[in-house]
Amino acid sequence: MFSNFVYHNPVRVLFGKGQIAQLNKQIPAQANIMLTYGGGSIMQNGVYDQVKAALADRTIIEFGGIEANPTYETLMRGVEIARTEKIDFLLSVGGGSVLDGTKFMAAAIPFEGGDPWEILASKARIKTAVPIGAVLTLPATGSEMNYFAVISRTSTQEKKGMGNPLVYPVFSILDPETTFSLPERQIANGIADAFTHTMEQYLTYPVDATLQDRMAESVLQTLIEVGPVTLKNPTNYEARASMMWAATVALNGWISVGVPQDWATHQIGHELTALHGIDHARTLAVVLPHLLRVKSTEKREKLIQVAKRVWNLQGTDDELVEGAIQAIAQFYETLGIPTHAKTYGIGPETVEEVRKRFVARNMNFGEHADITPDVVVQILNLSI
Ligand code: NZQ
Ligand code: ZN
Repeated sequence: MFSNFVYHNPVRVLFGKGQIAQLNKQIPAQANIMLTYGGGSIMQNGVYDQVKAALADRTIIEFGGIEANPTYETLMRGVEIARTEKIDFLLSVGGGSVLDGTKFMAAAIPFEGGDPWEILASKARIKTAVPIGAVLTLPATGSEMNYFAVISRTSTQEKKGMGNPLVYPVFSILDPETTFSLPERQIANGIADAFTHTMEQYLTYPVDATLQDRMAESVLQTLIEVGPVTLKNPTNYEARASMMWAATVALNGWISVGVPQDWATHQIGHELTALHGIDHARTLAVVLPHLLRVKSTEKREKLIQVAKRVWNLQGTDDELVEGAIQAIAQFYETLGIPTHAKTYGIGPETVEEVRKRFVARNMNFGEHADITPDVVVQILNLSI
C-alpha cells in the first residue's frame, strides 16, 4: 500500500561552484563556532583555506582527526572540548564520516541522560542539539540532507546508527569542485553507496507509488550514466555535479516516502565494517547481490521492473530476474568494487559472529521483516 506520510526537510542546500563564499551569511553572527574535520584532506585540496577565508572575521575552534567510520572515542574528545568552550555552532567540513560524527557531537554535547553512547545503543531520547552546518566534500551518504548518523565504537567493535530531526544540518554547501581531489576508490565508493541506498528503498515490492519508483529509477540511471564518466574524468564538472546531486537525492527522503524499505544490506554491511574495517560502500557490494538471490521470490516484481526500466533488458520473467541480479553485481564490479566477501578474507567465523549479534539483538530485517539471522547466514554464505 502507498502509505500515508509526513515529510519535512529543513536543510538549506547551497549547490555549485564557489558557494563556500556564502558561509559567513549562513552562520549566526554571534556564534561560537567549532569547525570539525577529518584526517587532513581539506588542508590539501584548498577547502580549509576557502572556509577560513569566508569566515575571516570569526573566532573558530578546530577539532580535526575524525576518522572514516567515525568513532565514539574520538568524538567524545570533541564533545568535552565543545562543552568547555561553550560551542553553540558546529561546522562540519569533509565527507559523510565527519558530518555523521558532527551530528553525534551535536546531540551529545547537551545530552543529560548519562553516557551519550546510549543515544546509539538504546536510542536514548535527545531533547536538543547544537545546530550544524556542513561543507560536503564527498558525495555518497546523503548525510548532508538527512538526519541520520552512523558511529563506530572501537573498544567493542560495534557500529550503530541514530536518527533524529534535531540533527538535520541547518545548511549544506555542495560544491562539486571540492570533490575533484577525491581518490578513485572514494568516488567509486560514493557511487556504490548512493546506488545501494536507492535499491534499499526501491527494490522491495510494488505499492503503485509511481512517482517514487520513477524518481528512484532516475537516480539509478543517473549513477549508471555519470558514474563511469566521473571516475574516468574527475574534473568533468557536469558529471561530478550530477553525481553529487544524485547522491543527495538517493537519501534525502524523496524516494522513500510512502513506500516499503529494506535496509538489510546496510545492517549486515555495518557488521562487516565493525568486524573487518571494510569501507562502508564495499560491504554493501558483497551483500546486496546475494541478498537479491535469496529474496528473489519476494522481490520478483521489482526485479523484473528494474531489469526493464533501468537496464532495458528483454526476455522471460525468469530471465529478467536473473538479468537484474547480474546487472547489479556487474555495476559494482565495473566500479572496481568486488562482490564477494571472500575477497576480504571473510569466512565462516565472521558469518557466525554476525549471526550471534543479530540473535542477541532479536531483530529481523527487510521490507517483510523476514531476514532472520538464519537468512543472513544464507546470504553471507553465498558471498564467502
Ligand atoms: O578524513 P579526510 O582526510 O577528510 O579524508 C577522507 C577519508 O579518508 C577522504 N575525503 C573526503 N573528501 C575528500 C577526501 N579526500 C580527498 N578529497 C576530498 N574532497 O575520503 C575518505 C572517506 O571519507 P568518509 O567521510 O569516511 O566517506 P563517506 O562520505 O563515504 O562516509 C562514510 C560514512 O558514512 C556512513 C558510513 O557508515 C560511514 O561511516 N553512512 C552515513 C549515512 C547517513 N548519515 O545517512 C548513510 C550511509 O549509508 C552510511 O552508513
Ligand atoms: Zn550507505
